[in-house]
Amino acid sequence: MTTLPLALKLANQPCLVVGGGEVAWRKIQTLLGSGARVVVVATFVSEEVREQCSAAGIRVHERPFRDDDVAGALLVVAATGDPAVNAGVQRACEEHRVLVNCVDDAEHSTAQFPAIVNRGPVTIGISTQGTSPTLARRLREQIEALLPDSLGPLATYLGGRRGQVKEALPESHARQKFWDHALDSELVDLVATGQIDRADERLSEMLTAPVKAGIVSLVGAGPGDPDLMTLKALHRLQRADVVYHDKLVGAGVLDRCRRDSRRVDVGRRSGDGVDVATRQASINSRLAADARQGMRVVRLKGGDPLVFGRGGEEIAWLAEQGVPFEVVPGITAGLGCAAIAGIPLTHRDWAQSVRFVTGQVHRDTHPDWPELAKPDQTLVVYMGLRALRRLCERLMGAGAAATMSAVAISRATLPGQRVVPGTIGDLGDRVQEAALEGPLTTIIGRVASFARMDRP
Ligand SMILES: C[S@@+](CC[C@H](N)C(=O)[O-])C[C@H]1O[C@@H](n2cnc3c(N)ncnc32)[C@H](O)[C@@H]1O
Repeated sequence: MTTLPLALKLANQPCLVVGGGEVAWRKIQTLLGSGARVVVVATFVSEEVREQCSAAGIRVHERPFRDDDVAGALLVVAATGDPAVNAGVQRACEEHRVLVNCVDDAEHSTAQFPAIVNRGPVTIGISTQGTSPTLARRLREQIEALLPDSLGPLATYLGGRRGQVKEALPESHARQKFWDHALDSELVDLVATGQIDRADERLSEMLTAPVKAGIVSLVGAGPGDPDLMTLKALHRLQRADVVYHDKLVGAGVLDRCRRDSRRVDVGRRSGDGVDVATRQASINSRLAADARQGMRVVRLKGGDPLVFGRGGEEIAWLAEQGVPFEVVPGITAGLGCAAIAGIPLTHRDWAQSVRFVTGQVHRDTHPDWPELAKPDQTLVVYMGLRALRRLCERLMGAGAAATMSAVAISRATLPGQRVVPGTIGDLGDRVQEAALEGPLTTIIGRVASFARMDRP
């Protein structure tokens, strides 16, 4: 990061705008919105800007810029449209150690105006450090769409009750917990609908009742691309005190966790000598122990927690132990793979059902191969990289045609995703030739012939 986002209090502070055109006027308006005392210096001032400045009570000096104009200003904006004049303003600011924004020239600016989203006292500034104002505007639009108008009144309400809560809960951790709890309660709706008296009653009740005990949230992280997580999953990550995650969960997803949350990788390590049952037992007891201490625990799993994810075992354990839990579903890998490869998992003519199956077939499991080999369905095979060849052979042995379409998809929705199409007769060779790596999922059935390799 080469710039630091900082919120400046500009009320009554002297700010100088050099320039008198449309761009300068936009900056003047932004500064006025923050209560700044604006002075304008420009050799040319458009009629419109002159009128608007006069209406806003702004002093305008119609003359060339002089270096000492910047003296005493807190912030200067160079918006002349003339690079030579802007450079002069920038030099003067450097000399007088005044912050300067040169419009459309991030390199010579010591201050930049972020794209702003405003909801009352809540202000969000978006900066791309001058790399792409268009991207910043796009992000602003997306954030605008996400934030309700009621956020402003809510922030004002909360600000007005901080003293009361601080007095009741002097300890800062307890206070943070209380506020988190309050923001998940009906208090938010009461304020949004203007029922302030009822909101106050509820707040007082919550201050006297103990804050809810901890909970374990089994959260699905989706197939890899963090944007494919659900809003609820994101919400849980941002509130979590501790996150126990699998190896498959990538950095892109973990970056969305609350900054000060504890993150624990409980993924399997080859060669660490810990057997599966022991590892699972240790995870189970850590989840329960943390929740009992009142923590918000997230058990984060790739895809959906209840699809080939041992989520069922964790739920059973938590229920047995009386630990509150919830499940937040995620997009399972098979769906992510189908989407990136453009494969419809069901099709009116070709596939009337879908089966999610594991490629890890153990000696003591006996899949119904003739059933799996039937042509009018789609098989989505998880964890099948090593066993792919054997799986295809078993299907052919059970009557499936060697020409049945099959597609291997690796790292779906992640950088480096690959789609390798073939048939059950040759997919093993193709995957080997392409040197595909895990995680890899295979989709088998007539619908696999839809696979498109030209997807980004
Ligand atoms: C232990 S299972 C977990 C499945 C997960 N719970 C889900 O719902 O997707 C791991 C398998 O999921 C599949 N998988 C997970 N992420 C994938 C991805 N990004 N691309 C392809 N396959 C993936 C692979 O078959 C991998 O071996």
